[in-house]
Amino acid sequence: MKKKILSLALIAVCMLGLVACGSGSASGDSDAAFTTVNKGVLTMATNAYFPPYEYYEGSEVVGIDAEIAKAVADKLGLTLKIEDMEFDSIITAVSAGKADMGLAGMTVTEERKQNVNFSDTYATGVQVVIVPEGSDIKTVDDLQGKKIGVQLATTGDIYCCDDFGTENVEEYNKGNDAVMALLSGKIDAVVIDNEPAKSYVAVNPGLVILDTEYVTEEYAAALNKENTALLEAVNGALAELKADGTLDAIIQKYIPAN
Ligand code: ARG
Repeated sequence: MKKKILSLALIAVCMLGLVACGSGSASGDSDAAFTTVNKGVLTMATNAYFPPYEYYEGSEVVGIDAEIAKAVADKLGLTLKIEDMEFDSIITAVSAGKADMGLAGMTVTEERKQNVNFSDTYATGVQVVIVPEGSDIKTVDDLQGKKIGVQLATTGDIYCCDDFGTENVEEYNKGNDAVMALLSGKIDAVVIDNEPAKSYVAVNPGLVILDTEYVTEEYAAALNKENTALLEAVNGALAELKADGTLDAIIQKYIPAN
């Protein structure tokens, strides 16, 4: 009899535990398993010159990543705070514990994995080549010996330096600066992710994107290596947002043809 009461009590405790866990993940880090840099806040590091993933509308950062981060923060009971910085500062901010999550159309790479954890991927990116109309550059191979503009520390920068030599690669702080240099004839081509490329070409007549794709990659959120609890929470939120169609709806809103 005593034994039975004990096991009943155990079951009751277990059930309480389950309930507590369930509400914990939905009500912020006051009682949840994960912690954030600032209590109750999800601090996102990004570089907001990368339409349609992140860009300014007035003084507000909007775009696919901004909306995904807001949806994740809502799921976790956190308030989203977006910090705009140079692209090459994002990983440092996350690994130094200054930001919770880098979300910046950031490609998962083995090298970056040395410094941060990546969430499950939420989008695919393709490195493409922008050239002036009528350029003699028709394929990626034609970039050999040409002056190529890239955004500093992006995968486009890394691939181009490897494939065509650092002496042929001009690094700019923003993708748009590279596009401006292309328009003024300072460089021959720009290598950048396909969706930003489409946005730049749409507003700058005289530029085209080559049909041939350079590299296909996966985008994910970068998180601090120590904070595996937050990584799991973010992955859980992403899975729910995938399952209920929110993720698709956000992407469709900014990339209608998708
Ligand atoms: N996908 C590329 C990379 O990870 C470029 C990302 C640039 N993102 C940005 N927000 N500026 O290197």
